[in-house]
Amino acid sequence: MLSRVIAFVFAALPLLGCGGDEAVPCPVQTWSATTRCMQTARAGAAGAPEMISSSGCYADVAKHRVDDTLFPYEVASPLWTDGALKRRFIALPDGAQLSAGSSGGAWTFPAGTVLVKEFWVPARDDDARFSQARLVETRFLVKQDDDAWGGYSYQWNEDQSDARLLSEEGDAKVYAVTREGGSASHKHIFPSRKDCFWCHRSERPVPLGIRTAQLNRALGDSITRSVGAVCGDAQENQLALLVRAGLVAPSDALAQPDKLAAMATPMAADSGASVEQRARSYLDANCSFCHYGKLFPSMDLGFGVPLSQMAACNAPSYRSDIGSILLVPGDAKSSVLWLRMVSRDFLVGMPPAGTERVDQGAADLVAQWINSLEGCPAP
Ligand code: HEC
Ligand code: HEC
Repeated sequence: MLSRVIAFVFAALPLLGCGGDEAVPCPVQTWSATTRCMQTARAGAAGAPEMISSSGCYADVAKHRVDDTLFPYEVASPLWTDGALKRRFIALPDGAQLSAGSSGGAWTFPAGTVLVKEFWVPARDDDARFSQARLVETRFLVKQDDDAWGGYSYQWNEDQSDARLLSEEGDAKVYAVTREGGSASHKHIFPSRKDCFWCHRSERPVPLGIRTAQLNRALGDSITRSVGAVCGDAQENQLALLVRAGLVAPSDALAQPDKLAAMATPMAADSGASVEQRARSYLDANCSFCHYGKLFPSMDLGFGVPLSQMAACNAPSYRSDIGSILLVPGDAKSSVLWLRMVSRDFLVGMPPAGTERVDQGAADLVAQWINSLEGCPAP
């Protein structure tokens, strides 16, 4: 899928922090809906700045401090990108607000909405601190004035002082990391501008994480981790916080987040969510933007879909090379769904893009769920 792949190996990881030692005020106090971030791209790709330092999105580019108009958020169930750490932000223009819709379901995004996701390669697999990681890519989804979404990727330079807009082609780079005590390499894939919409499909809501079930979670330490600010109550619901900060229009449904769908964090075994909720949340976030029941193959891996409607349980595979049944209750090792997750073979591995390494923790979780099933409920 990548038409051009160039690999470099960078040896030392500079230990740049995000925000340094300066005390950062909580974004609830400082945020405003008048961003300049990427607004020149509202008319289309020709307006996307060549360097991220001209994008208006970073207050201090070298220190990776984002502009005050970027509000941090976190999804319950993230996309696996070979263990890369991610910071995510929302920016809005002209006093605009997001609307979660009266049902709390479909969100609407005014023209000029900018969604931001950064990718950081951790120095070691078990180190989730941004201060110890290397910032490699910033991605933007920009809602244009013509109502289409534009997708842009910026590649950070070696000393992480600025990032350059990638051409339509995409790229890949290899970074040196420590894994299991030894030196290893981490290949990061920079998708091409077209590849964005392989996952962010135009026939469905393009933003994949800005959904009620993904944002309906306790805040935890997400803001502290992403921008270094401490914002009071870690138990506060993130949807409630987005309303309180002014990003999302208030609604009756949002006032009672415990009555709305909520995905679980797959790797948070102690969160109180069941194995099934965690496994299904993983499959939703990582697979359901392709497997939503309408595209070939017709399996539906969406979170809210009952097992009987997933077209997976005891359902035949369309091919028979690695197995014949998609999900065999009680037997993960015979289930094509699981066998595809633990393979990185070009013709077999799932997902087919965006990752080079098996997400072993998630594969174990999905195996645990499949092994716990005693049968297939009648459709
Ligand atoms: C392999 C599938 C895949 C590809 C390719 C992909 N994305 Fe995404 N992206 C996702 C998923 C899934 C999420 C939501 C989960 C998360 O944030 O971890 C997401 C989240 C985002 C977000 C945060 C807003 C949102 O949609 O939730 C931005 C911004 C983004 N992607 C930009 C891009 C751009 C720009 C490209 C192309 C250069 C791209 N993505 C390519 C799967 C993909
Ligand atoms: C970018 C789109 C995309 C994503 C993301 C994706 N898949 Fe797929 N998947 C496909 C396509 C296309 C096929 C059919 C081609 C093939 O057999 O590889 C497929 C085939 C499959 C099949 C075989 C179906 C059959 O009838 O034999 C399984 C099982 C599967 N995917 C599971 C998953 C799981 C589990 C995930 C997430 C961990 C996932 N996929 C993520 C696009 C995707």
